[in-house]
Amino acid sequence: MSSLPAAPVRLEPLADEGVLRGGDGRYEKFLGDLAGLYRDEAAYRAALAADAGAPVYWVETSTPEHGDGALTVGISVLEPGTIGDEFYMTRGHLHRLADRAELYYGLSGRGVMLLESLDGESRAVEIGPGTAVHVPGHWVHRSVNVGEERLATLFCYPADAGQDYEIIARAGGMRRLVVRDGDGWTTRPNPDHTGYRRD
Ligand SMILES: [Fe+2]
Repeated sequence: MSSLPAAPVRLEPLADEGVLRGGDGRYEKFLGDLAGLYRDEAAYRAALAADAGAPVYWVETSTPEHGDGALTVGISVLEPGTIGDEFYMTRGHLHRLADRAELYYGLSGRGVMLLESLDGESRAVEIGPGTAVHVPGHWVHRSVNVGEERLATLFCYPADAGQDYEIIARAGGMRRLVVRDGDGWTTRPNPDHTGYRRD
């Protein structure tokens, strides 16, 4: 039994336009999709009331094949902003197949990858143009825009990795919050975090 391999794909990540030219998938998240993500609910409701309806972040992907060894390549674009003192962030996830790793490469803007292990380690790693973050398996991860411009990253992970978002929701959020600190950023503990549980 044989089948033709998938055709090679030429991709152009256009950070300024927030587009992955040559990709075959897209999803977007609006402020209204992100209830419960930010701790300051009053600030979240006020932002929602004033929201113009543009996405907070979106992802464009290329997955030309599936199965063992296949890759998903994509661009993640996250607008700048804050809700209370927390910066705009992605929901974050653990890969459904938790041992799957991921690479992020900064294209534009200033960001932080917040990485947490299930047993209590928390790391905040800066990412920006010319910097990559190699996320090993078994780390919960999210992107945070700590700058004044859009944060655009190129990412790559095994196409079968999947995303478990509920692990963060069940834990009351990630262990640490990435918050404004003068002109920069810092992290502080999330008092609602109750520890990660697989189910
Ligand atoms: Fe991921």
